[in-house]
Amino acid sequence: MQATRRDTAVAQDSPYRYQELADFITRLVESATLLPGSRAPSLRQISRERGTSLATALKAYRLLEDRGVLEARPQSGFYVAGNTRARLEAPAISKPPSSPRTVSLSSVVLRLFEYASDPSLVPLGCAVPSPDLLAAGRLDRLLAKAARNRGVERNRYTVPKGDRVLRVELARRAPRWGGTLSPEDLVLTCGCTEALTLALQALSRPGDTIAIESPTYFGLLHTIEVLNLKALELPTDPLSGVDPEALEQALQTRSVTACLFSSSFNNPLGCTPSDERKLELLRLLGKHRVPLIEDDIYGDIFFGQRRPTPFNALDPAADVIYCSSFSKTVAPGYRTGWIAPGRHMQRVLERKMAFTLSGLPLPQSALAEYLASGGYDRHLRRIRAIFRDNLERMSQAVGRFFPQGTRVSRPSGGFVLWVELPKRIDTRELFGLALEHGICFAPGDVFSSTKRYGHCMRLSCGTPWSAGIERALETLGHLVRDALEAR
Ligand SMILES: Cc1ncc(COP(=O)(O)O)c(C=O)c1O
Repeated sequence: MQATRRDTAVAQDSPYRYQELADFITRLVESATLLPGSRAPSLRQISRERGTSLATALKAYRLLEDRGVLEARPQSGFYVAGNTRARLEAPAISKPPSSPRTVSLSSVVLRLFEYASDPSLVPLGCAVPSPDLLAAGRLDRLLAKAARNRGVERNRYTVPKGDRVLRVELARRAPRWGGTLSPEDLVLTCGCTEALTLALQALSRPGDTIAIESPTYFGLLHTIEVLNLKALELPTDPLSGVDPEALEQALQTRSVTACLFSSSFNNPLGCTPSDERKLELLRLLGKHRVPLIEDDIYGDIFFGQRRPTPFNALDPAADVIYCSSFSKTVAPGYRTGWIAPGRHMQRVLERKMAFTLSGLPLPQSALAEYLASGGYDRHLRRIRAIFRDNLERMSQAVGRFFPQGTRVSRPSGGFVLWVELPKRIDTRELFGLALEHGICFAPGDVFSSTKRYGHCMRLSCGTPWSAGIERALETLGHLVRDALEAR
């Protein structure tokens, strides 16, 4: 385990020394040099051997703990986790280029969206719950009731902020995630997409730079492109999110107009920063006077004991614009989302008025009644259990069918899986072949303004597990193996 001169040089030169050290320990576990259940080298020993500080070694071990590679035992140190060898490794932390980029993805994203909405394909492409998981029957009835009882009355413009009853219901739910909002703090939008677009437009001008996670949701990249903004992608850990050191470096060296991060279960990695990390990111943003736009669209789909706390609830005084919608939980087709713009309310409202004037009164009214009648939490409990099961089965199937060297994310919420294949694989080529087999997935290159995720894919687990989905994964595994052999 003695460090070679080259290893030590790498460790000292890299700005991410704890990650280098974490990768080193992971290799020892994978090669069975360190066996499951055995004691990992002590912090003092490893920091001496690898030429790092004790603090760096501790940070590396904490990262490995998050990744499920090591377990901390009270009074006893760190041990190799028992099931490590049975699980696929998590993807590595991303290392995007440190300069802002223009985005040029729109035509690809439009085409992908068409395929992802094609009901004849196995639906691994679009991050949307399958229709039979939505509260369809109840919502249908509430929509019909709203049309029947007050259809004429509702057939007019809403106030610019949208249906007040729905805003009251949303404000009532805020304490569940630690927030305090009044109905007047909220503007209803056409999905989270409009919320994010309004936030970006309120804060930036064409040519400005927005710092984002890498990889990130392709719809966001598309919006950045259409608004003529630049994307600065930040190194992002597949478990714990944006690296605060990298953010600090970016804020010191670049002119960043705003950041846009997921509050939880980033699409596509599934990562969620801890409360401590979120507070640290907010502290850095406050220090550099850079506002944050947070996208909390997956927040209600958590598998743990507690819903992750959004940034704006952790520090209500911070300059944060909060965005979310019902699209991932109950009603993607109702196109209803919301934004809490904080101190940017006036600019957001002006833009809302300019672009869409008003919301959709009937869907907003049906959703208000749906929340008021109390079925939403039961529905959430049901779909969380299904998504969790889907993710688990899908990641096991990837382990069975995909070649060695495949890595897979470990989301603790949401319903997308990020799969990192051996570097020689081009998932755009694979996408064409998969379509011929009637299967859709999202190729990795659309999740970045650079071409760096061309060997990755995102699989949606929004459809309950079935033999058809298992067969599709087996076919994808064959296609990947064939592609590897052909190279
Ligand atoms: C992270 C993220 N934000 C926003 C959206 C768009 O949401 P909506 O359908 O509410 O516009 C999506 C949809 O996939 C998403 O994954």
